[in-house]
Amino acid sequence: MTEHQPSARRAVRSFVIREGRFTPSQRRNLERHWSEYGIEADADPLARFERPQPLVVEVGFGMGDSLFESARVEPAYNFLGVEVHRPGVGHLLGLAGNAGLTNLRVAVADAREVLARLPEASVARVQVYFPDPWPKKRHHKRRLIQPEFVSAVVERLAPGGVLHVVTDWAAYAEWIDEVLGGFAQLTPVPPPSRVTTKYEQRGLRLGHAITEFAVALERDPPQATADR
Ligand SMILES: C[S@@+](CC[C@H](N)C(=O)[O-])C[C@H]1O[C@@H](n2cnc3c(N)ncnc32)[C@H](O)[C@@H]1O
Repeated sequence: MTEHQPSARRAVRSFVIREGRFTPSQRRNLERHWSEYGIEADADPLARFERPQPLVVEVGFGMGDSLFESARVEPAYNFLGVEVHRPGVGHLLGLAGNAGLTNLRVAVADAREVLARLPEASVARVQVYFPDPWPKKRHHKRRLIQPEFVSAVVERLAPGGVLHVVTDWAAYAEWIDEVLGGFAQLTPVPPPSRVTTKYEQRGLRLGHAITEFAVALERDPPQATADR
């Protein structure tokens, strides 16, 4: 095999890692606050929280301003942020450390791997704000919202738990609608409140329409009917 041949075993990634853009304060905050907020690759994410509270998972928080704000205004929830972009993690840890937040923890990893480490029915809400749209057709397989990803979310959601996805990309909105439509156990609900994200501000400046999807996992799975 030459080095340009893709390995059949390598998972398709929904992200590109851009490490070069650390500011000195992002790097300093990452080093200073990681032991308090970070979740190591082999750790049990739930064991890292101080209090047993309903869990919200935010996938791909970017610079983390909106995740910080959610965790600040909802202290009765634990927030688990998952992001691969370490400068953004440094930014979030600076905000969290300065505010002394105790209900936030962060994993630097592929969210699909972190979800797999959570127990079934352990999550109250999964929020995915402005996932990379991967507009070229040959890149559609890199989109995060795929049936496999939603299946993994459904397994981790507690009954009544909510998946909240927002995009500013019309073609991705159609795609997300179709993927979510394949899950009969998910029912549309009013979107939870949230704050505007960095990526959203950019979309709004470009005149993009924002589409929100909020779906809840049914509370009572249908019982199998006994033969009479
Ligand atoms: C377009 S940005 C949006 C960031 C932020 N949510 C916002 O609205 O400003 C998408 C983010 O998702 C992250 N991401 C993509 N796939 C991911 C994955 N599988 N696990 C964790 N983060 C991921 C990327 O690194 C990127 O920072």
